[in-house]
Amino acid sequence: LRQHHQDMRGRTLKQLFARDKSRVEKFALEAGNLTLDYSKNHVNSSTRRLFARLAREAGVPAAIEAMFTGDPINRTEGRAVLHSALRSKISDQVALETPGVKEVWEVLSNMEEFIDAVHSGEISGSTSRRLTDIVNIGIGGSDLGPVMASRALRPYWKADMRFHSVSNVDGTQLADLKNELDPERTLFVICSKTFTTLETMTNARAARDWIVETLGHSAVENHFVAASTNHDAMNAFGINSKYRFGFWDWVGGRYSLWSAVGLSLALVVGMDTFRRLLAGGRIMDRHFCQAPMDENMPVLLAMLGIWYNNFFGAETQAILPYDNRLERFPAYLQQLQMESSGKSVRMDGKPVRCDTGMIIWGEAGNNAQHSFYQLLHQGTRLVPVDFLLPVRSSGADQSHQDLAIANCLAQSEALMDGFDEDDLEPHRVHPGNNPSNTILFEELTPETLGQLIALYEHKVFVEGVIWGIDSFDQWGVELGKKVATALASVVAGERRYKGGNGSTRKNLARIRKSR
Ligand code: F6P
Repeated sequence: LRQHHQDMRGRTLKQLFARDKSRVEKFALEAGNLTLDYSKNHVNSSTRRLFARLAREAGVPAAIEAMFTGDPINRTEGRAVLHSALRSKISDQVALETPGVKEVWEVLSNMEEFIDAVHSGEISGSTSRRLTDIVNIGIGGSDLGPVMASRALRPYWKADMRFHSVSNVDGTQLADLKNELDPERTLFVICSKTFTTLETMTNARAARDWIVETLGHSAVENHFVAASTNHDAMNAFGINSKYRFGFWDWVGGRYSLWSAVGLSLALVVGMDTFRRLLAGGRIMDRHFCQAPMDENMPVLLAMLGIWYNNFFGAETQAILPYDNRLERFPAYLQQLQMESSGKSVRMDGKPVRCDTGMIIWGEAGNNAQHSFYQLLHQGTRLVPVDFLLPVRSSGADQSHQDLAIANCLAQSEALMDGFDEDDLEPHRVHPGNNPSNTILFEELTPETLGQLIALYEHKVFVEGVIWGIDSFDQWGVELGKKVATALASVVAGERRYKGGNGSTRKNLARIRKSR
């Protein structure tokens, strides 16, 4: 690949198109409801062959098998990685012998029963009023998934049901919701794998105080439900024993939307829609397990990522969806990719010898055009782009979506072709030759959303296999948490700062002074 890169970097995308008339057919791939057009990349048939060879040599096929059979591939935490089991059918036999896997379908049925009872009013608030406002309290994977998917699936919200979320520790989200919501109709869903996370527990306690103040202590058991693996902590909080939904240690936080962490989403869109989301994830799982390396969509996306990152030196990648309902999808992928691939030590404890995870960023299409596309067209950096493009509008007049489509196609064309003419002033020149993928699908349905999420999950996994890192741990978030816990009592004025960081000491003094 390194040698081949020397050849390829001298050729422009336009030249690659001119040389091969069948390029658009050759460099497109379908999986489930998704079509990936990767023709506008610095690749040819040899590149694809070499990609597949690298994937095989790095052991990607064996790694996929290890994941789906429940091997403890998250080695630094000694855990299996089985979010795919959450969306499998029992007949798929995904790691059925791993403790907990056989309980997956029972938890889904319990969720369904609970959700139906909330919708019918059989389960109601403490004053017997229907529960219509669902507030997800969580952070990281326990927030981004439900928030992103609830926005993406806005047309599927059940009549009268509304989704809200509280994640940040500063308390402003809850403060605003308290002004807006009727406590009698509000159901808080506390989502936390550990049920110890500072932000989530702080917000959950504040929400409980509000319910106690407005409806009395006994109302807590009617207005709180939880998704967690920590039963003792749920007991201590006062969660009604019938209002608890468990999951397992083989579900990583950023992969947990498919588990009971999806409860708040499912409460708003209904279990039928949630199951369609799971079915979409399963379609991508099957493709990932069955397709050969050179026709495997997650593998190809991963190899393209590696190509630009490790060969062309790109540091960032932009995710640009042309449906505003996917506006939180880039943020969701940020956690998925940057928490998974932000590693500099390999699984064997040795330092990596190449760059790992790229910086992921993005924004919904046209908004982004009027904001940062200038840098994509004329900046100095190489930024590979993924365009996500639905053909049909998800609930608006099609004429609007047609304009979104025109803009998306125009941008990928302009990024590739650029613009130059004799005597054109230099600042008007668009150099072009910028690579992009276009992921096209008919409409943003629960199934397509499930496929998109699983596509990127597996892409991240494959990249990690090639680099030899553990994509499923997140030790890098621990230190900051520890320092913050120690500083909390200092900021609260309960004790003096004993740390040695001069800047922190000075800032604490400034904060004290301005109080
Ligand atoms: O930020 C680190 C992290 O562990 C994420 O991986 C996770 O999604 C988030 O915190 C929330 O954790 P929990 O669900 O245990 O509250």
